[in-house]
Amino acid sequence: MQVKARIHQPTTAAILRLARVLRRGGLVAVPSETVYGLAADALNSAACRRIFAAKGRPSTDPLIVHVATLRAASEVAEWNEAAQALARAFWPGPLTLVLPKKAVVPDVVTAGLDSVAVRQPNHAVFRALLRATGRPLAAPSANPFGYISPTTAEHVRESLGERIAHILDGGPCRVGVESTIVDLRNPARPRVLRPGWITAEQVASVLGCRVAGRGRRPAAGKRSGRARATADQAVAQVAPGMLTRHYSPRIPLTLVKRITSRDDRPGVARLFYQKPRTGPAVESKPAAPVAWLSETGDPAEAARHLFSRLRALDRSGATSILAESAPDTAEGRVLNDRLRRAAAR
Ligand code: TXA
Ligand code: MG
Repeated sequence: MQVKARIHQPTTAAILRLARVLRRGGLVAVPSETVYGLAADALNSAACRRIFAAKGRPSTDPLIVHVATLRAASEVAEWNEAAQALARAFWPGPLTLVLPKKAVVPDVVTAGLDSVAVRQPNHAVFRALLRATGRPLAAPSANPFGYISPTTAEHVRESLGERIAHILDGGPCRVGVESTIVDLRNPARPRVLRPGWITAEQVASVLGCRVAGRGRRPAAGKRSGRARATADQAVAQVAPGMLTRHYSPRIPLTLVKRITSRDDRPGVARLFYQKPRTGPAVESKPAAPVAWLSETGDPAEAARHLFSRLRALDRSGATSILAESAPDTAEGRVLNDRLRRAAAR
C-alpha cells in the first residue's frame, strides 16, 4: 500500500500548520471524543467535495458541521430554544443537532437539504484546531464509505492513508461510537435520527417533552427485511445517511444473542460482549481468534472498544465473525444498532 498520510502529534506548531492546510481547502483527519473525522472548511464547497471523493461517499449523504462555540453554531443554523437548551446541557459533547440551515452553508455539505447538522465536539485537540482555523469544519467519520469507523489515528491511516495527507493524532477516542443525532427542525417534535451515547431519555428530560426514538427493534434475525426497509425509509427521508448496512467489516458478520461453546469453529472469529470467565475461549487454544468488548461488562468500555475489535477481527485471517449482542439497556442498544448494521448484507 502506498501510504502518504503523515500522523502529526498535536503540538501547537502542528495545529497551526494543519489550520493553514484547512484554510487553503485541504483535508485533515481529526480526533474527536466519538470517532475520528475527516475535516474540511465547511464554508468551502471545493474542499468539502474532496471529503466525498476521499471517502467514496455518495453526494446524497450530508456532513456534520463542527463548531468551536455556540455562536458559531448560530451562524450556520437557525438556532431555537430547544437547541439552546440541549447545547447547554450536552455541548461540547457527542450530540449533533439538525436545524434549518443558513445560506452560508454550501449545498454540498447538506446534500441539498434545507437543514444542517451541527456539533461542538469535546476533544481538546479538535477544539484547538477549530479555534486556530477560525472556520466551522465539516467532518464525517474518517473511514471509507460503509466501512468500520476509526477510533485511533492508526485506523485512519490503515484505510484512508493512500488518499489523504494529514492525520492529527489525539489518542484513542473516549466514547468510541458516533454522536447522537437529534432532528430539531421542528422543536416541538424532536426526534432521534441516530442513537448514540446521549439517550433519547436524556434529551427528553432536558426538553421536557416526548422525543421520538428510532423505535425498539426486535432481536437480531427476528425483524423481517421488509419491516426493516419500511422503518429505515422513514428515517432516510430526513437522514439520508442512515443506511441499514454500515460499519461493515470485509468478512461477513453474524449477530447472535449468546455465543455458546458449539460456536468454536475454524475460521469463525468470535466477538464476546464480556470476557468469558471459563470455557474453551479462554482456557484452551480456540480454533479461531477471540475478542471481547469489555473485561467486566461495562458498556462504556465496550463502546470504546467496539470499532477497534471489529477492525482487528476483520484483519485476523478469519473468514467470518460471530458477534454477541450487548444487553438490552439504553447503552447496549447503541452498540447493538452498530452491530446490526455491521451484520446487514
Ligand atoms: O460523532 C460523530 O458524529 C462523528 C464525528 C466525526 O463528529 N461524525 C460522523 O459523521 O459520524 P458521519 O458523516 O459518519 O455521519 C453523519 C450523519 C450522516 O450520515 C447523516 O445521516 C446525518 O449525519 N446528517 C448530516 N446532516 C444531516 C441533515 N442535514 N439532516 C439529517 N441528517 C444529517
Ligand atoms: Mg460515518
